[in-house]
Amino acid sequence: MAVGVFDSGIGGLTVLDAITRRLPDLPLVYLGDNAHAPYGVRTHEDIFNLTCAAVERLWEEGCDLVILACNTASAAALKRMQETWVPADKRVLGVFVPMIEALTERQWGDNSPPREVAVRHVALFATPATVASRAFQRELAFRAIGVDVEAQPCGGVVDAIEQGDEILAEALVRSHVEALMRRMPHPQAAVLGCTHYPLMEATFQDALGPDVKVFSQANLVAESLADYLVRRPEMLGAGTESKFLTTGNPKAVSSKATQFLRRRIIFEAA
Ligand code: DGL
Repeated sequence: MAVGVFDSGIGGLTVLDAITRRLPDLPLVYLGDNAHAPYGVRTHEDIFNLTCAAVERLWEEGCDLVILACNTASAAALKRMQETWVPADKRVLGVFVPMIEALTERQWGDNSPPREVAVRHVALFATPATVASRAFQRELAFRAIGVDVEAQPCGGVVDAIEQGDEILAEALVRSHVEALMRRMPHPQAAVLGCTHYPLMEATFQDALGPDVKVFSQANLVAESLADYLVRRPEMLGAGTESKFLTTGNPKAVSSKATQFLRRRIIFEAA
């Protein structure tokens, strides 16, 4: 009864950790496509092909349901995958919908027509590929009317976090927030639309100020997955074992992941 969690690299471990806290008995198979990360600067075609290959690998592990923890894959590939590629007995879900449901104060899985919501001005921080896809605005328009979204492509932040350069990551976050606030001086809510940004949440909040509500996805995705599995228990796959797979060098990825999450994680070759 395993569920697959996919990310371009190690950032999705923030989502995996939140799922583990919410559903401690659920076996999870994590796949990081470290050999091809970062996805944030790749073309949509490339992201689609790489994501499909990774999801197929997770199906082989007995995970009929795969969560794309990667915002870039969710934004650039998921809709096309669901419309043209995923077979009827499998599911691939992304990270935007739970975030938008929380932002628009909907029940999980509520697909009723769009309506007016309390929040009117939303700041989105994400990778260049996610911003270019406009997937967040598209999914939001299915659920809410009259919401103004200002998106900031946060070049460099993922690389700085991966390199463990906190000073650079913090400086970049502050300059991206400043750039966005020149265009939207008073956002009411900010969405951290990248797996890595929860690690910089305090800096985002500080730079945005105390009046801006910051939405970070890991816990929201875990909550919505718990609700989904109650509604669709048949989507629990046949796998029984939790494991961490990578397309990159398992030793190097294990050491980076251990540093990233500050607990020991051992990856094996995918
Ligand atoms: N995991 C990606 C995301 O959430 C960030 C890293 C990348 O660019 O691959 O958007």
